[in-house]
Amino acid sequence: MFAITGITGKVGGEVARNLLAANQPVRAVVRELRKGEAWAQLGCDLVRADINDAGALTSAFKGAESVFVLVPPNFDPSPDFQEARATAATLRSALAAARPGRVVYLSTIGAQATQSNLLTQHTIIEQALGELSMPIGFLRPGWFMENCSWDVASATNDGVILSFLQPIDKPVPMVATADIGRVAAELLQETWKGHRVVELEGPHRVTPNEIATTFADLLGRPVRMEPVPRETWESLFKSQGMKNPTPRIKMLDGFNEGWIEFESAESGSRKGRVALEAVLRTLIESR
Ligand SMILES: NC(=O)c1ccc[n+]([C@@H]2O[C@H](COP(=O)([O-])OP(=O)(O)OC[C@H]3O[C@@H](n4cnc5c(N)ncnc54)[C@H](OP(=O)(O)O)[C@@H]3O)[C@@H](O)[C@H]2O)c1
Repeated sequence: MFAITGITGKVGGEVARNLLAANQPVRAVVRELRKGEAWAQLGCDLVRADINDAGALTSAFKGAESVFVLVPPNFDPSPDFQEARATAATLRSALAAARPGRVVYLSTIGAQATQSNLLTQHTIIEQALGELSMPIGFLRPGWFMENCSWDVASATNDGVILSFLQPIDKPVPMVATADIGRVAAELLQETWKGHRVVELEGPHRVTPNEIATTFADLLGRPVRMEPVPRETWESLFKSQGMKNPTPRIKMLDGFNEGWIEFESAESGSRKGRVALEAVLRTLIESR
């Protein structure tokens, strides 16, 4: 049996769909049972566990051949990342107690970076899980193509997309969540010893300008990318309600300056199959 956290979200849902298509038994780990009903109807066993509840997670992971661990995103963490430290300790103790056969943890590109930034949350959790002796795969995907969901309205209505990724002709390692889910499901069904890192990006790197031209082609209207000046980010993010925008700003700096990159560089990453155009088409259609 394969226990899947985050199953009601983008990546977890893709992982589960791939496993069900391979006729594997899936346990849907949800934080509210009613949200898992659709998965129960597809034949999944349904259990309730919050990512910060060690007891519930231990029960959810017990007896699993493999566990997929997804920690929900936190864009506005405390300066000392205390939320990620707490989640890391909870996950470590639940996995140590449940002892599943294998674990695939959804991490991120740049989890090995030494400069503090938003992705340091995954660095902290990778380090804590790294203390466990069971087989663990750290799946490190690039920037999700689905982040473009934030741009659909402005591309459609105004023909302008604001970009924090800069310069706007610089290629960025991006990947579709369909590719992440497929690769995660493959890893969950493999066997290995010890710890491994799998870095994953799409078929080719994507510039912000390419996002604009792809939207333009799909929408049949001109769309251009407009860089947001770096000196305005802090006040902008604070005006949007963020308490501590520094980690997010440092993460964007890391992508723009190139120190958020795969440990094995572009030459060492696995390549997905799903192109940006397919992702943007789906985002536009599901709007
Ligand atoms: N966006 C990127 O470019 C990028 C790049 C690399 C890595 N990542 C990582 O990918 C992950 C996000 O994946 P995603 O986009 O698939 O997530 P998502 O679509 O936002 O889904 C989040 C999932 O987490 C669940 N969840 C939320 N709070 C929870 C809690 N307290 N306890 C248990 N489950 C909870 C949600 O359940 P409900 O339905 O109940 O809310 C949902 O299933 C993050 O760890 C992020 O750092 C993102």
